[in-house]
Amino acid sequence: MSSDKDKVIIFDTTLRDGEQTAGAGLTADEKLRIARHLQTMKVDVIEAGFAASSPGDFKAIQQIAREIEGPVICSLARAVPGDIDAAAEAVKGAKRPRIHTFLSASDIHMMHQMRKDRETIMSMAVEAVRRAKSYVEDVEFSPMDATRTDPEYLYAVLRATIEAGATTVNIPDTVGYTNPVEFKALIEGIRENVDNIDQAVISVHCHDDLGMAVANSLAAVEGGARQVEGCINGLGERAGNAAIEEVIMALKTRFDYYGLTIDTEPGDIGATSRLVADVFGFPVQYNKAIVGQNAFRHSSGIHQDAFIKERTTFEIMEPDAVGWRGEALVLGKLSGRAGLRSRLSDVGYRLTDEEMDITFAAFKELADQKKEVTDRDLEALMSEQHRDADVERAYKVVKVDVVAGDVNMPRATITLLAPDGLERVNSSNGTGPVDAVCNAIDGMVDEEIELTEFAVNSVTEGIDALGEVTIRVRGADGNIYAGRGSSTDIVVASAKAYVNAINRVLAMAGDVATEQTQEV
Ligand code: KIV
Ligand code: ZN
Repeated sequence: MSSDKDKVIIFDTTLRDGEQTAGAGLTADEKLRIARHLQTMKVDVIEAGFAASSPGDFKAIQQIAREIEGPVICSLARAVPGDIDAAAEAVKGAKRPRIHTFLSASDIHMMHQMRKDRETIMSMAVEAVRRAKSYVEDVEFSPMDATRTDPEYLYAVLRATIEAGATTVNIPDTVGYTNPVEFKALIEGIRENVDNIDQAVISVHCHDDLGMAVANSLAAVEGGARQVEGCINGLGERAGNAAIEEVIMALKTRFDYYGLTIDTEPGDIGATSRLVADVFGFPVQYNKAIVGQNAFRHSSGIHQDAFIKERTTFEIMEPDAVGWRGEALVLGKLSGRAGLRSRLSDVGYRLTDEEMDITFAAFKELADQKKEVTDRDLEALMSEQHRDADVERAYKVVKVDVVAGDVNMPRATITLLAPDGLERVNSSNGTGPVDAVCNAIDGMVDEEIELTEFAVNSVTEGIDALGEVTIRVRGADGNIYAGRGSSTDIVVASAKAYVNAINRVLAMAGDVATEQTQEV
């Protein structure tokens, strides 16, 4: 049996640092759906959000804390009493709650951001940990910008916060500045110079500004860190965090080298990655390690030849291990409810009879348009069912009628079901069919929005593939909101995505982070 010293704790912060990705913003329902997948993956810790940042995030953390069992549920908090109280309240319902409090420790942050001296920062950190400890046993402390902090001061802060009760001390490379050799040495230095370090787990939290976040995290593990923080698909502030799926698979695949175990199971990584991409509206690059579409595709003749003779010649991981099922064709228009239920359960959805009725009707409609319905199509279909699920005042696309081409000016007639339960119809011209659709919708919705981004992706290959549209709009509050929609007709998908973006503006306006918490 492995001891705790031989185990690396996997800390997922997709729902917190990942949500800080510019242009992201999730509803409580979306966060819960992702958390369920993280639970299936058996990650050790889910950082569900930043309770004090907005009422919506508070509610999302509370729901996750109440529903998700297994992983520790954590909320971030600045080292100020109000934040810690909010975090404690949000994670109260969890079987295993954690408060993660943080404070800048580098001189550059102290001088320009905090405008406080080292003594003040030290006592704020200690006070914050003590306050968190009065609520929960499991407290994590992060000296922000640790890799640009004077090591002697860093050691002193760590010593004091462990004494105050921190059970995990996290070493953030907040601006992605370090490199593997330097970071490993920093962790070793901490183990040598902080005399009470054996009373806490050393964690690392690496950003990817120089593309070294995963390498830095693994080097830190070699130096003695036993918790790694990261996000699915490498999302996060600026260039993102360490891609947690890469850390997981590196530790598993190179067990011969690292000799460390993890409890996390990678079988659901693929589905989790696709859900995160869908909900955040950030498609995964094709050649991304572990979860990119090409991650297990062999294209050159020499590789293919060797691969057919012996898989391990060109494959270091089993695609199955991360839930990669290729493009297996599964269902068609003659498939019944039992077949659909079984495939849905394979891709991680267990539905009530009532949900099944709605989903089966949508499936039949899709199967009429598309000869073969794959697992990917089913995931897109489920995402479509969940869109706007927890938005109270939502618009819904009822009908899209478009005339386009290069003879006459494109014109769209759109029927919407408005939040008051009444149908509205409007027609408009546009420079193209999508522009006409958006203009027609604008004429029925009172929101001031500006379209900033439009992208189409196909879910699978083939002429009848489902098209997935991502639209980003700027709301009147200046924030960016993403909307998604899928259909075998990309103009219909565009109408759905645009309306989804409008619904998010309606749902989230007034629930954006306060000015101070935006500065984290
Ligand atoms: O990057 C960072 O320093 C953070 C802290 C809040 C841990 O996200
Ligand atoms: Zn971060």
